[in-house]
Amino acid sequence: EAGKVALMQEIDQLRKEKNAVILAHYYQEPEIQDVADYVGDSLGLSQQAAKTEADMIVFAGVHFMAETAKILNPNKKVILPDLDAGCSLASSCPPESFGEFVKAHPDHVVVTYINCSAEIKALSDIVCTSSNALKIVNSIPKDRPIIFAPDKNLGKYVMKQTGREMLLWDGACVVHEAFSIDKLIEIHKSHPEAEIIAHPESEEHILQTANYIGSTSGMINYVKKYPEKEFIVATEAGILHQMQKDVPDVKLIPAPSHEDNTCACSECGYMKVNTLRKLYLCIKHERPEIDVPRTIRERALLPIERMLEISK
Ligand code: 13P
Ligand code: SF4
Repeated sequence: EAGKVALMQEIDQLRKEKNAVILAHYYQEPEIQDVADYVGDSLGLSQQAAKTEADMIVFAGVHFMAETAKILNPNKKVILPDLDAGCSLASSCPPESFGEFVKAHPDHVVVTYINCSAEIKALSDIVCTSSNALKIVNSIPKDRPIIFAPDKNLGKYVMKQTGREMLLWDGACVVHEAFSIDKLIEIHKSHPEAEIIAHPESEEHILQTANYIGSTSGMINYVKKYPEKEFIVATEAGILHQMQKDVPDVKLIPAPSHEDNTCACSECGYMKVNTLRKLYLCIKHERPEIDVPRTIRERALLPIERMLEISK
Protein backbone atom coordinates (compact mmCIF):
# COMPACT_ATOMS: atom_id res chain seq x y z
CA GLU A 1 0.00 0.00 0.00
CA ALA A 2 2.79 2.42 0.92
CA GLY A 3 4.34 1.57 -2.44
CA LYS A 4 1.13 2.49 -4.23
CA VAL A 5 0.89 5.84 -2.45
CA ALA A 6 4.50 6.63 -3.41
CA LEU A 7 3.81 5.66 -7.03
CA MET A 8 0.74 7.86 -7.10
CA GLN A 9 2.78 10.79 -5.79
CA GLU A 10 5.47 10.20 -8.43
CA ILE A 11 2.85 10.02 -11.16
CA ASP A 12 1.31 13.25 -9.94
CA GLN A 13 4.70 14.98 -9.97
CA LEU A 14 5.55 13.77 -13.48
CA ARG A 15 2.15 14.77 -14.81
CA LYS A 16 2.74 18.36 -13.66
CA GLU A 17 6.35 18.51 -14.92
CA LYS A 18 5.38 17.21 -18.34
CA ASN A 19 2.01 18.97 -18.67
CA ALA A 20 0.40 15.58 -19.25
CA VAL A 21 -3.24 14.63 -18.83
CA ILE A 22 -4.16 11.17 -17.53
CA LEU A 23 -7.42 9.84 -18.98
CA ALA A 24 -8.75 6.65 -17.39
CA HIS A 25 -11.65 4.29 -18.09
CA TYR A 26 -13.89 3.01 -15.25
CA TYR A 27 -12.55 -0.53 -15.80
CA GLN A 28 -9.03 0.43 -14.70
CA GLU A 29 -7.83 -0.60 -11.25
CA PRO A 30 -8.95 1.72 -8.42
CA GLU A 31 -5.58 3.46 -7.88
CA ILE A 32 -5.32 4.29 -11.58
CA GLN A 33 -8.80 5.82 -11.47
CA ASP A 34 -7.86 7.79 -8.36
CA VAL A 35 -4.71 9.26 -9.87
CA ALA A 36 -6.33 10.18 -13.21
CA ASP A 37 -7.32 13.71 -14.23
CA TYR A 38 -10.50 12.37 -15.74
CA VAL A 39 -12.32 9.03 -15.44
CA GLY A 40 -15.12 8.30 -17.86
CA ASP A 41 -16.83 6.17 -20.46
CA SER A 42 -15.65 5.90 -24.04
CA LEU A 43 -17.59 8.96 -25.17
CA GLY A 44 -16.44 11.12 -22.26
CA LEU A 45 -12.85 10.02 -22.81
CA SER A 46 -12.92 10.90 -26.50
CA GLN A 47 -14.54 14.26 -25.71
CA GLN A 48 -11.78 14.96 -23.19
CA ALA A 49 -9.13 13.91 -25.69
CA ALA A 50 -10.66 16.22 -28.30
CA LYS A 51 -10.45 19.28 -26.09
CA THR A 52 -7.32 18.79 -24.00
CA GLU A 53 -4.63 21.43 -23.97
CA ALA A 54 -2.05 19.16 -22.36
CA ASP A 55 1.16 18.39 -24.27
CA MET A 56 0.89 14.65 -23.72
CA ILE A 57 -2.05 12.27 -23.28
CA VAL A 58 -1.50 9.31 -20.97
CA PHE A 59 -4.26 6.84 -21.75
CA ALA A 60 -5.17 4.46 -18.95
CA GLY A 61 -7.50 2.30 -20.97
CA VAL A 62 -7.18 -0.03 -23.93
CA HIS A 63 -5.46 0.38 -27.29
CA PHE A 64 -8.46 1.50 -29.39
CA MET A 65 -9.14 4.31 -26.90
CA ALA A 66 -5.56 5.59 -27.11
CA GLU A 67 -5.71 5.33 -30.91
CA THR A 68 -8.86 7.45 -30.94
CA ALA A 69 -7.06 10.06 -28.82
CA LYS A 70 -4.13 10.02 -31.27
CA ILE A 71 -6.42 10.40 -34.29
CA LEU A 72 -7.90 13.49 -32.60
CA ASN A 73 -4.46 14.80 -31.61
CA PRO A 74 -1.94 13.87 -34.32
CA ASN A 75 0.59 16.40 -33.01
CA LYS A 76 0.50 15.30 -29.40
CA LYS A 77 2.31 12.39 -27.86
CA VAL A 78 -0.21 9.70 -26.81
CA ILE A 79 1.07 6.94 -24.55
CA LEU A 80 -0.47 3.73 -23.18
CA PRO A 81 0.97 1.83 -20.17
CA ASP A 82 1.01 -1.48 -22.09
CA LEU A 83 0.45 -2.04 -25.83
CA ASP A 84 -1.02 -5.46 -25.00
CA ALA A 85 -4.09 -3.72 -23.55
CA GLY A 86 -6.30 -4.86 -26.44
CA CYS A 87 -10.00 -5.64 -26.71
CA SER A 88 -11.83 -8.78 -27.83
CA LEU A 89 -14.34 -6.67 -29.75
CA ALA A 90 -11.63 -4.81 -31.64
CA SER A 91 -9.83 -8.05 -32.52
CA SER A 92 -13.09 -9.69 -33.65
CA CYS A 93 -13.13 -7.30 -36.61
CA PRO A 94 -10.04 -7.66 -38.82
CA PRO A 95 -9.69 -4.84 -41.41
CA GLU A 96 -9.30 -7.11 -44.44
CA SER A 97 -12.51 -9.11 -44.00
CA PHE A 98 -14.41 -6.06 -42.79
CA GLY A 99 -13.25 -4.17 -45.87
CA GLU A 100 -14.68 -6.94 -48.07
CA PHE A 101 -17.95 -6.91 -46.11
CA VAL A 102 -18.29 -3.15 -46.60
CA LYS A 103 -17.43 -3.45 -50.29
CA ALA A 104 -20.11 -6.10 -50.73
CA HIS A 105 -22.74 -3.64 -49.40
CA PRO A 106 -21.84 -0.35 -51.06
CA ASP A 107 -25.24 1.28 -50.41
CA HIS A 108 -24.99 0.78 -46.62
CA VAL A 109 -24.10 3.43 -44.07
CA VAL A 110 -21.28 2.00 -41.96
CA VAL A 111 -21.73 2.60 -38.23
CA THR A 112 -18.94 1.31 -36.04
CA TYR A 113 -18.82 1.01 -32.29
CA ILE A 114 -15.74 2.86 -31.01
CA ASN A 115 -14.35 -0.50 -29.74
CA CYS A 116 -12.55 -1.20 -33.02
CA SER A 117 -9.17 -0.45 -34.58
CA ALA A 118 -8.25 2.74 -36.43
CA GLU A 119 -8.32 0.75 -39.69
CA ILE A 120 -11.97 -0.15 -39.08
CA LYS A 121 -12.82 3.45 -38.20
CA ALA A 122 -11.18 4.46 -41.48
CA LEU A 123 -13.73 2.23 -43.28
CA SER A 124 -16.67 3.81 -41.41
CA ASP A 125 -19.13 6.61 -42.03
CA ILE A 126 -19.80 7.31 -38.38
CA VAL A 127 -18.57 6.02 -35.03
CA CYS A 128 -20.71 5.52 -31.92
CA THR A 129 -20.29 4.53 -28.30
CA SER A 130 -22.70 2.73 -25.99
CA SER A 131 -23.99 6.07 -24.69
CA ASN A 132 -24.90 7.57 -28.05
CA ALA A 133 -25.55 4.51 -30.29
CA LEU A 134 -29.33 5.07 -30.39
CA LYS A 135 -28.89 8.75 -31.21
CA ILE A 136 -26.34 8.03 -33.94
CA VAL A 137 -28.46 5.34 -35.61
CA ASN A 138 -31.57 7.54 -35.35
CA SER A 139 -29.64 10.32 -37.13
CA ILE A 140 -29.33 8.18 -40.26
CA PRO A 141 -32.08 8.75 -42.84
CA LYS A 142 -34.73 6.01 -42.63
CA ASP A 143 -34.28 4.94 -46.25
CA ARG A 144 -30.58 4.13 -45.82
CA PRO A 145 -29.57 0.55 -44.95
CA ILE A 146 -27.02 0.21 -42.15
CA ILE A 147 -24.02 -1.97 -41.33
CA PHE A 148 -23.29 -2.09 -37.59
CA ALA A 149 -19.97 -3.47 -36.30
CA PRO A 150 -18.31 -5.03 -34.42
CA ASP A 151 -20.58 -5.75 -31.42
CA LYS A 152 -23.59 -7.92 -32.28
CA ASN A 153 -25.09 -7.61 -28.79
CA LEU A 154 -25.09 -3.81 -28.85
CA GLY A 155 -26.26 -4.05 -32.46
CA LYS A 156 -29.25 -6.22 -31.53
CA TYR A 157 -30.12 -3.87 -28.68
CA VAL A 158 -29.98 -0.84 -31.02
CA MET A 159 -32.14 -2.64 -33.59
CA LYS A 160 -34.76 -3.37 -30.95
CA GLN A 161 -34.77 0.16 -29.57
CA THR A 162 -34.75 2.02 -32.87
CA GLY A 163 -36.79 -0.44 -34.96
CA ARG A 164 -34.08 -0.23 -37.65
CA GLU A 165 -32.88 -3.31 -39.50
CA MET A 166 -29.09 -3.49 -39.51
CA LEU A 167 -26.51 -5.87 -40.92
CA LEU A 168 -24.53 -6.97 -37.89
CA TRP A 169 -20.90 -7.99 -37.67
CA ASP A 170 -20.41 -11.12 -35.55
CA GLY A 171 -18.26 -9.65 -32.77
CA ALA A 172 -18.65 -9.72 -29.01
CA CYS A 173 -17.00 -8.69 -25.76
CA VAL A 174 -15.59 -11.64 -23.80
CA VAL A 175 -16.37 -9.97 -20.49
CA HIS A 176 -20.01 -9.13 -21.16
CA GLU A 177 -20.68 -12.51 -22.77
CA ALA A 178 -19.39 -14.25 -19.64
CA PHE A 179 -22.32 -13.31 -17.44
CA SER A 180 -24.31 -16.31 -16.31
CA ILE A 181 -28.08 -15.91 -16.49
CA ASP A 182 -28.61 -18.82 -14.09
CA LYS A 183 -26.30 -17.38 -11.47
CA LEU A 184 -27.81 -13.93 -11.99
CA ILE A 185 -31.32 -15.24 -11.36
CA GLU A 186 -30.02 -17.12 -8.33
CA ILE A 187 -28.47 -13.98 -6.84
CA HIS A 188 -31.59 -11.97 -7.60
CA LYS A 189 -33.66 -14.52 -5.68
CA SER A 190 -31.64 -13.83 -2.55
CA HIS A 191 -31.74 -10.05 -3.20
CA PRO A 192 -35.28 -9.59 -4.58
CA GLU A 193 -35.24 -5.84 -3.92
CA ALA A 194 -32.11 -5.28 -5.99
CA GLU A 195 -32.35 -3.67 -9.40
CA ILE A 196 -30.36 -5.17 -12.24
CA ILE A 197 -28.39 -2.69 -14.34
CA ALA A 198 -26.57 -3.84 -17.45
CA HIS A 199 -24.24 -2.69 -20.19
CA PRO A 200 -25.64 -3.18 -23.72
CA GLU A 201 -22.62 -5.30 -24.69
CA SER A 202 -24.31 -8.01 -22.59
CA GLU A 203 -26.36 -10.75 -24.24
CA GLU A 204 -30.07 -10.32 -24.84
CA HIS A 205 -31.15 -12.71 -22.05
CA ILE A 206 -29.17 -10.61 -19.54
CA LEU A 207 -30.56 -7.33 -20.92
CA GLN A 208 -34.11 -8.70 -20.64
CA THR A 209 -33.70 -8.91 -16.86
CA ALA A 210 -32.36 -5.36 -16.52
CA ASN A 211 -34.18 -2.38 -15.02
CA TYR A 212 -31.67 -0.06 -16.65
CA ILE A 213 -29.41 -0.51 -19.69
CA GLY A 214 -26.67 1.98 -20.48
CA SER A 215 -23.02 2.88 -20.85
CA THR A 216 -20.71 2.86 -17.85
CA SER A 217 -21.39 6.58 -17.21
CA GLY A 218 -25.09 5.98 -17.70
CA MET A 219 -25.04 3.21 -15.10
CA ILE A 220 -23.18 5.39 -12.60
CA ASN A 221 -25.64 8.25 -13.11
CA TYR A 222 -28.55 5.85 -12.63
CA VAL A 223 -27.15 4.54 -9.34
CA LYS A 224 -26.61 8.14 -8.15
CA LYS A 225 -30.32 8.81 -8.61
CA TYR A 226 -31.31 5.95 -6.30
CA PRO A 227 -28.73 5.94 -3.50
CA GLU A 228 -31.03 4.00 -1.16
CA LYS A 229 -31.41 1.03 -3.53
CA GLU A 230 -29.41 -2.13 -4.05
CA PHE A 231 -27.99 -2.99 -7.47
CA ILE A 232 -26.71 -6.03 -9.32
CA VAL A 233 -24.23 -4.60 -11.80
CA ALA A 234 -23.74 -6.39 -15.13
CA THR A 235 -20.59 -4.86 -16.52
CA GLU A 236 -16.86 -5.06 -15.81
CA ALA A 237 -16.34 -4.99 -12.06
CA GLY A 238 -13.92 -2.05 -12.12
CA ILE A 239 -16.94 0.25 -12.30
CA LEU A 240 -17.88 -0.59 -8.73
CA HIS A 241 -15.04 1.59 -7.46
CA GLN A 242 -16.47 4.82 -8.87
CA MET A 243 -20.07 3.86 -8.03
CA GLN A 244 -19.17 3.25 -4.42
CA LYS A 245 -17.14 6.46 -4.31
CA ASP A 246 -20.07 8.47 -5.66
CA VAL A 247 -22.68 6.77 -3.49
CA PRO A 248 -20.86 5.43 -0.40
CA ASP A 249 -23.90 3.75 1.19
CA VAL A 250 -25.29 2.05 -1.89
CA LYS A 251 -25.24 -1.75 -1.96
CA LEU A 252 -23.59 -3.14 -5.07
CA ILE A 253 -23.38 -6.73 -6.20
CA PRO A 254 -21.24 -7.55 -9.25
CA ALA A 255 -23.13 -9.76 -11.71
CA PRO A 256 -21.67 -13.28 -11.66
CA SER A 257 -19.87 -14.79 -14.62
CA HIS A 258 -19.83 -18.44 -15.78
CA GLU A 259 -16.29 -18.97 -14.66
CA ASP A 260 -15.51 -19.45 -11.01
CA ASN A 261 -13.45 -16.28 -10.83
CA THR A 262 -11.84 -15.61 -7.50
CA CYS A 263 -13.84 -12.39 -7.25
CA ALA A 264 -16.96 -14.17 -8.62
CA CYS A 265 -17.33 -11.33 -11.08
CA SER A 266 -16.19 -10.32 -14.52
CA GLU A 267 -12.93 -8.53 -15.04
CA CYS A 268 -11.47 -7.49 -18.37
CA GLY A 269 -8.02 -9.02 -18.67
CA TYR A 270 -7.10 -6.43 -21.31
CA MET A 271 -8.00 -3.47 -19.11
CA LYS A 272 -6.17 -5.04 -16.20
CA VAL A 273 -2.95 -5.42 -18.21
CA ASN A 274 -2.33 -1.84 -17.15
CA THR A 275 -1.05 -1.47 -13.61
CA LEU A 276 -0.18 1.54 -11.49
CA ARG A 277 3.51 0.69 -11.85
CA LYS A 278 3.24 0.46 -15.65
CA LEU A 279 1.41 3.79 -15.65
CA TYR A 280 4.29 5.33 -13.69
CA LEU A 281 6.96 3.88 -16.02
CA CYS A 282 4.96 4.97 -19.06
CA ILE A 283 4.67 8.60 -17.98
CA LYS A 284 8.30 8.60 -16.84
CA HIS A 285 9.79 7.21 -20.06
CA GLU A 286 7.03 8.56 -22.34
CA ARG A 287 6.49 5.19 -23.97
CA PRO A 288 5.05 2.99 -25.37
CA GLU A 289 3.77 5.57 -27.78
CA ILE A 290 0.72 5.21 -30.03
CA ASP A 291 1.31 5.76 -33.71
CA VAL A 292 -1.40 5.67 -36.37
CA PRO A 293 -0.29 5.86 -40.03
CA ARG A 294 -1.28 9.19 -41.58
CA THR A 295 -3.58 7.83 -44.31
CA ILE A 296 -5.58 5.78 -41.77
CA ARG A 297 -5.59 8.59 -39.23
CA GLU A 298 -6.94 11.13 -41.68
CA ARG A 299 -9.66 8.81 -42.94
CA ALA A 300 -10.65 7.74 -39.42
CA LEU A 301 -10.97 11.31 -38.15
CA LEU A 302 -14.15 12.19 -40.03
CA PRO A 303 -16.41 9.45 -38.59
CA ILE A 304 -15.16 10.30 -35.08
CA GLU A 305 -15.79 14.01 -35.61
CA ARG A 306 -19.28 13.26 -36.91
CA MET A 307 -20.00 11.35 -33.71
CA LEU A 308 -18.63 14.15 -31.50
CA GLU A 309 -20.71 16.73 -33.38
CA ILE A 310 -23.95 14.74 -32.89
CA SER A 311 -23.11 14.10 -29.21
CA LYS A 312 -22.59 17.76 -28.23
P1 13P B 1 -18.39 2.47 -22.16
O1 13P B 1 -17.56 2.87 -20.99
O2 13P B 1 -18.33 3.51 -23.23
O3 13P B 1 -19.77 2.14 -21.76
O4 13P B 1 -17.72 1.17 -22.80
C1 13P B 1 -17.58 -0.01 -22.11
C2 13P B 1 -16.46 -0.84 -22.60
O5 13P B 1 -16.53 -2.04 -22.71
C3 13P B 1 -15.23 -0.20 -22.92
O6 13P B 1 -14.34 -1.12 -23.37
FE1 SF4 C 1 -13.06 -4.81 -24.93
FE2 SF4 C 1 -14.90 -5.97 -23.42
FE3 SF4 C 1 -12.57 -5.39 -22.36
FE4 SF4 C 1 -14.27 -3.41 -23.00
S1 SF4 C 1 -14.57 -4.98 -21.44
S2 SF4 C 1 -12.08 -3.49 -23.42
S3 SF4 C 1 -15.24 -4.28 -24.82
S4 SF4 C 1 -12.91 -6.86 -24.02
